[in-house]
Amino acid sequence: MIKRTHSCGELSKSQLAENVSLTGWIAKRRDLGGLIFIDLRDRYGKTQVIFNAETTPAVFEIAKKLSMEDVIGIKGKVVLRPEEAVNRKMSTGEIDVEASELEIFNESAPLPFDINERNSASEEHRLRYRYLELRTHELQYNLRMRHKAAKAVRDFMDALDFIEIETPVLMKSTPEGARDFLVPSRIHKGKFYALPQSPQTYKQLLMVSGFDRYFQLVKCFRDEDFRADRQPEFTQIDIEMSFVEVEDIIRMGTDLTRHVWKALLGVKLPGDFPRMSYAEALDRYGSDKPDLRFGMELQDFGDFVTRSDFNAFKSIVAEGGTAKALVCPNGGSYSRKIIDGLTADLKTYYKARGLAWMKAVNGKLEGGISKFFSDDLQAEVLTALNVQEGDIIFAAADKAAVVLPAMGALRLELGRRENLINAAAWAPLWVTDFPLVEWSEEKNRWDALHHPFTRPHPDDLALIESNPGKVRSLAYDIVMNGYEMGGGSIRIHDSDLQKRIFTLLGIEAETARRKFGFLMQAFQYGAPPHGGIAFGFDRMVMLLVDSNQIRDVIAFPKTTSAMSLMDESPSVVDEEQLDELGLILKDPPKS
Ligand code: AMO
Repeated sequence: MIKRTHSCGELSKSQLAENVSLTGWIAKRRDLGGLIFIDLRDRYGKTQVIFNAETTPAVFEIAKKLSMEDVIGIKGKVVLRPEEAVNRKMSTGEIDVEASELEIFNESAPLPFDINERNSASEEHRLRYRYLELRTHELQYNLRMRHKAAKAVRDFMDALDFIEIETPVLMKSTPEGARDFLVPSRIHKGKFYALPQSPQTYKQLLMVSGFDRYFQLVKCFRDEDFRADRQPEFTQIDIEMSFVEVEDIIRMGTDLTRHVWKALLGVKLPGDFPRMSYAEALDRYGSDKPDLRFGMELQDFGDFVTRSDFNAFKSIVAEGGTAKALVCPNGGSYSRKIIDGLTADLKTYYKARGLAWMKAVNGKLEGGISKFFSDDLQAEVLTALNVQEGDIIFAAADKAAVVLPAMGALRLELGRRENLINAAAWAPLWVTDFPLVEWSEEKNRWDALHHPFTRPHPDDLALIESNPGKVRSLAYDIVMNGYEMGGGSIRIHDSDLQKRIFTLLGIEAETARRKFGFLMQAFQYGAPPHGGIAFGFDRMVMLLVDSNQIRDVIAFPKTTSAMSLMDESPSVVDEEQLDELGLILKDPPKS
């Protein structure tokens, strides 16, 4: 068997006249009569190999039947390319290898899509043949970056005395708030394990065990609705530390991020990342993960609405609602049709009641709701909102919980449309002081915004019973370019406070004992103050490779409907398997 002496990305003028061997896949083939040129590819690069009918007729005869993606090995001599054929973009572009031996390891069937052009087929088709898609340059690069990022994380954590500890995959349900994936137990019929939504409870137990600084690159499983940045199974950089406060975690998380960006991209992020409270992020950007790569902040519009004759908005504000405005350049390009489209999106996805607008033309406001604003008021609006000639003002009024996210989404859409986002910039941000709980209309009770072990802000302890919605927590998120890259909190480590929170969340003593009894019990035996964070590793890598699709950085991802098209999972199982587990299907699938 021909074994390689060099990779396909390695040869240059320095190996001139040497006899070498290469192995790989055929990426390109050109037949010029007496000469056959192929590009041989492996994960390191491509090298042009020449088969010559005159000098090596027997090998040439075999080479004639080579086709795309066949796997071969060759032996041959490194020769200089003629000057006009030199390709300076390729590391091997100055040389060719003249083949004198050829071994065909495997012939490829006709390909379902062109591997040199990733977008030559639909994503569904590519996912079905994911192993072929993984041959593309883009995905090879992404997975190499993923490996490097994992290594950079481990190096950084190790240097700070963190130790990586594996936690179970078959476990008791975790309290992260998504739906669990369940695994039926054969030995204990009728009972189930849950796959971890995160190792939250285990890492807290490890603090009780005195491990002090824990981390883990760990798979987490959540049965929720999937989006471009979410997968049913994903990887976290999970971290927990003892004897720490919010500042310690923010320091560590900042330094970890800086280390990874430096190691992978050579980018020097600032020593400290900006900070913003949750309330401020929502008020100014309409999002708890604001993209700070561009401005266009949400501006208060309530005062102007109150003084206008626009009754629809006036009554909303009078009843305690919020009015916000966005000032967008290039107003002339916003036709009725475009504005109607934007309005429809806000109504559908954010339950907004509508979207008002007016344009700045000749130093005045025109169109839309401008007629409800007197000349004086218009002049004030133009100055206060810093409106430039030609801008368009968008405005909405509603409950803050509706208007802020709606205008936040519109801000992102306008930023994209107007090309305001500097794609080369990095905008990290810590968002702090999240509310401890949020009211669930559906369940008619308070729900933990993060999870039930999150420590309330010490200044707000007195409000836990009297005004829960106002209680801030010691929880934080790290945001990068508008993505929530990670989140965590300082935990509750005393049982009295934990009981108050369970009561607030409507978790009865018996339920608490059944669900988290083991953790509460452990806390009786010396629990250090502790806290932590988990970074979404896939999201981090997605940012590092400049993608906006999480599937691009996972070797074998699931579709948005949680399917693996390649191996067709989830799939039906044999009757015997169900029997062994003591399960009967209520609605067996038809096929
Ligand atoms: P949280 O639920 O905020 O916190 O998750 C931490 C980070 O994990 C990433 N993430 C996801 N990535 C891809 N697909 C998903 N479905 C998905 N869900 C979450 C996000 C998120 O910021 N145990 C706590 C952490 C802690 O308190 O220490 C936790 O899991 O980037």
